Amino acid sequence: MSAIKPVYLNETHSHHPIIRSINDEAFGPGRFVRAAERVREQGPHDPRLSFVAAVDDDIVGSVRMTPIHAGTVAGHLLGPLAVRPSFKNLGIGKQLVRIAVAAALDAGSEGVILVGDAPYYGPLGFEPVRAQLSFPGPVDPDRILVAPKGDAIHERLRGDIVWRPEGAVAGEALKAHNL
Ligand SMILES: CC(C)(COP(=O)(O)OP(=O)(O)OC[C@H]1O[C@@H](n2cnc3c(N)ncnc32)[C@H](O)[C@@H]1OP(=O)(O)O)[C@@H](O)C(=O)NCCC(=O)NCCS
Repeated sequence: MSAIKPVYLNETHSHHPIIRSINDEAFGPGRFVRAAERVREQGPHDPRLSFVAAVDDDIVGSVRMTPIHAGTVAGHLLGPLAVRPSFKNLGIGKQLVRIAVAAALDAGSEGVILVGDAPYYGPLGFEPVRAQLSFPGPVDPDRILVAPKGDAIHERLRGDIVWRPEGAVAGEALKAHNL
């Protein structure tokens, strides 16, 4: 197993079919009813901040970032995050999160939000949101986590989570919307 050396690449259009397959395998058909998907349906993710993991030229993992407003915070929604079952527990998922969060914060994001398990994401810089954020669908509030650019954004994480058009990549909206 130690011989496996993943490389991490920016997502491109050529990766879309395999990413869809990885996410279908990880989440099943029910994934489209999840509240975070309701946000992602509002507009495209940002491929500049979305990454894949490759092992021997095969794509084995993916993470995406979608520009959002979370209350008045101009941030990003992380997800889906998925790794092919036969490549789990090699550190690929955590490295994808680290790379994507660093890229978003470097690009000016005020914070990265996700719906997920605190034991997994906590060591990666995520903490529970302290105010109240609403997704367009039911979400366990204890699973809404943020990696903030600075502590001060917490008080502005209050209100709805909606797709953020000014965070979109020009020309991506029509192409990416139907993936
Ligand atoms: C969750 C997922 C992305 C992790 O990918 P991965 O490459 O196996 O993760 P890593 O190798 O970086 O980390 C593995 C470690 O995290 C732990 N872990 C995995 N999922 C976890 C969870 N939901 N909660 C807490 N710990 C978790 C593993 O037990 C392992 O622990 P160890 O290092 O002590 O052995 C992968 O299991 C997956 O695709 N799952 C299905 C889709 C999914 O649930 N995505 C996340 C949605 S929030």
